Amino acid sequence: MDKIDITLQESRVRNMLKTEYIGKDFHFFEETTSTFDAADHIAIKNGSVFCARKQTNGRGRLGRSWESQNGGIYFSIILMPDARFSEVQIMTALCAVGIRRALSKFLPCSIKWPNDIVSKDGKKICGILTKLKFIDDGKAIVNVGIGINANTKKFDDELKYASSVALITGKDIDENLVLCGALEEVERCISFENISETIEEYKKECVTLGKRVRVLYATSGESVTGLCEDIKDDGSLIVKTDEGEIINVSSGEVSVRGIYGENYV
Ligand code: BTN
Repeated sequence: MDKIDITLQESRVRNMLKTEYIGKDFHFFEETTSTFDAADHIAIKNGSVFCARKQTNGRGRLGRSWESQNGGIYFSIILMPDARFSEVQIMTALCAVGIRRALSKFLPCSIKWPNDIVSKDGKKICGILTKLKFIDDGKAIVNVGIGINANTKKFDDELKYASSVALITGKDIDENLVLCGALEEVERCISFENISETIEEYKKECVTLGKRVRVLYATSGESVTGLCEDIKDDGSLIVKTDEGEIINVSSGEVSVRGIYGENYV
């Protein structure tokens, strides 16, 4: 029997994908600078997917780069929600719920606020970065960029918290199955019919909630420590600081005390 090729294959994704609209318009690249750039040069539709085996200029949060060698799955989902801005804001969180569901078929994992998927021992196996653009009629185009460390075997030494599904489980996984599962779950999660249940699932699966956190503001370099008491419906954190002040955190960098064995206070 022929051995199945578990690396990303355009034809396998097209054949296996069981979605209504996400990925029906599918663009596949052996290599691109970033799926964010790829989506800028081709006509897009609601649900278009841009996927690459390798990125030469992968971008992460807070101006960081995103290591994008073969073995990872790098994709952008284009969404054009017919929705209010508050709903657009929550989209990344809803996508994170879908990606966690899909990855949990391969290993136990959780969400780290705002949009990382981490293994039970706190290793980052997926990152999500959303870019938002408004077009002439005020409608939003959301590009949800997702990087899954599926079969990645080596990371830069400085990425001490990064790992991959293969490194953690000891088994290579079928990248096509992971991608199709991710797109199918994201499609379910972003349907606004059951948004409140999906937000509840986000909270249930989020390791940040109920933890002591350090809020590190990327621009000023300042930081605040406190207890993460809640996550609002727009995806922002409610933190009670050690000084007793309640703050709402919707940007900046939040580290979770304990998960990485760091001492934050
Ligand atoms: C993070 O910093 O956690 C977010 C990482 C997002 C990486 C993905 S890979 C696909 C898309 N294209 C990019 O250049 N970045 C995002």
